[in-house]
Amino acid sequence: MPQSKVIVIDYGSQVTQLIARRVREVGVYSEIHSCATPADEVAAMNPSAIILSGGPASVGESGAPALDPGLLALNIPVLGICYGMQLLAESLGGELAKSSTREYGPAELRFDAPCVLWDGIAGPARVWMSHGDRVLAPPPGFVVTGSTSTLDIAAMADEQRRIYAVQFHPEVHHSTDGQSMLRNFLFGAAELAPNWSMASFAERIVREMKERIGDRHVVCALSGGVDSTVVAVLLHRAIDKNLHCIFVDNGLLRLKEADEVTGYLREHFDLNLTVVQAQERFLSRLEKVEDPERKRKAIGHAFIEIFEEEAKKLPHVDFLAQGTLYPDVIESTSHKGPSAVIKSHHNVGGLPEKMRLKLVEPLRELFKDEVRQVAAELGLPDFIVWRHPFPGPGLAIRVLGEVTKARLDILRGADCIVQQELRESGWYRRVWQGFAVLLPLRTVGVMGDGRTYEHVVALRMVDSVDAMTADWSRVPPEVIARISTRIINEVSGVNRVVYDVSSKPPSTIEWE
Ligand code: XMP
Repeated sequence: MPQSKVIVIDYGSQVTQLIARRVREVGVYSEIHSCATPADEVAAMNPSAIILSGGPASVGESGAPALDPGLLALNIPVLGICYGMQLLAESLGGELAKSSTREYGPAELRFDAPCVLWDGIAGPARVWMSHGDRVLAPPPGFVVTGSTSTLDIAAMADEQRRIYAVQFHPEVHHSTDGQSMLRNFLFGAAELAPNWSMASFAERIVREMKERIGDRHVVCALSGGVDSTVVAVLLHRAIDKNLHCIFVDNGLLRLKEADEVTGYLREHFDLNLTVVQAQERFLSRLEKVEDPERKRKAIGHAFIEIFEEEAKKLPHVDFLAQGTLYPDVIESTSHKGPSAVIKSHHNVGGLPEKMRLKLVEPLRELFKDEVRQVAAELGLPDFIVWRHPFPGPGLAIRVLGEVTKARLDILRGADCIVQQELRESGWYRRVWQGFAVLLPLRTVGVMGDGRTYEHVVALRMVDSVDAMTADWSRVPPEVIARISTRIINEVSGVNRVVYDVSSKPPSTIEWE
């Protein structure tokens, strides 16, 4: 049986990403595509079902995204959520009521008519609403299947044509039976087979990469993080020796980081792997640079130079592989759909254009935790699978102010203790990122009988799911105390440790 594939058409909802994720969670492959994608392109993807997402616009207002009628002409099951429901109502001859106020929050959904979506669910169901406009009259052929105390038409369906619509958001956790409704859509209405898993994802990517790349060559910038390591391992399976990995030791890495990952890869994979020692070059470019953006630029330029130099030594290369993930590509508030614009700091900035390389980004549909599942599926060890994200500019943006070898060494010492203690206490996996920051100030202290005047280290530990929002982690005081004591005792030059208790937004995860 061919693999089922659900295409989610993104009309700009903040939670579109969750729809694809929920679908994948029950074993059906799903991809998100912008609502600007023409229906014939969607048809070429061979979808088994389509889900229309919510969105912030008001159907019919100027600039609001419309429903491409070609999508309905595919004659496959369709589920419209929120804005998606309103689009269906309008395009199929129903009536909409505009509203200037939004209904937001929980509601009780009554089941007014039998519908495959409600199978096995005892009504009323608790659902989550977030909408302004609403459907006033369903299109011909549709039955009203659900309502709430404030909404006469909260769900409707034309079961003959297998078109379903709900005003609420089944994809969010607050909709208690939402996942069952999505299951009912996928397995009941659309009769799909749950034939997707991380293992099948890896197999599919390897197959697709083989087909796309053929006998051409790919260069991959290996950072040591889980994302680029997974990309390298997948590509190695697909094209073997035509993959060329470059790892740049820029002197801005954590203690022993370069050795750990490259050592593992060398030992377990017969990879073309070049490790470039470039500590001096990066340090000299960072001399007297204090501004964070100038640091990023200086590091980015040095990286591109090295990459170009190394690429010249390789056979002709057509592709650049990157570990871009879904949160890197999403622009969730745009109702033009997630744009293909990658946050500049997540890209190997400027390289693809400069070297005329095509991008290979096999993980661009996935979330971090899904990448970790793929990594585990590929048999990678825990120290790679669970590695915290680490920024491209490395410790340079954690040494606030000017970056020098001496200051980097202080930070590396402190950071190493943070990593050790997080692992030791079992908190490493519970926090999204945990690290030390060296502040550009000194404070007074006493050690023994003497007065000290030394550096301050800040500890930053956050909980997050995708780094777009984050909160400071409630790591137990005992763990923080041990980290603090050890840093002050063991890292010379530090006499004070502070804990960062800010969330993102309004702060960011990194300090620079
Ligand atoms: P912020 O500080 O923006 O960080 O809240 C969000 C996530 O992105 C990482 N980060 C970077 N990653 N280059 C990168 O590759 C960068 O310049 C950069 N700045 C921040 C950060 O570690 C966090 O995971």
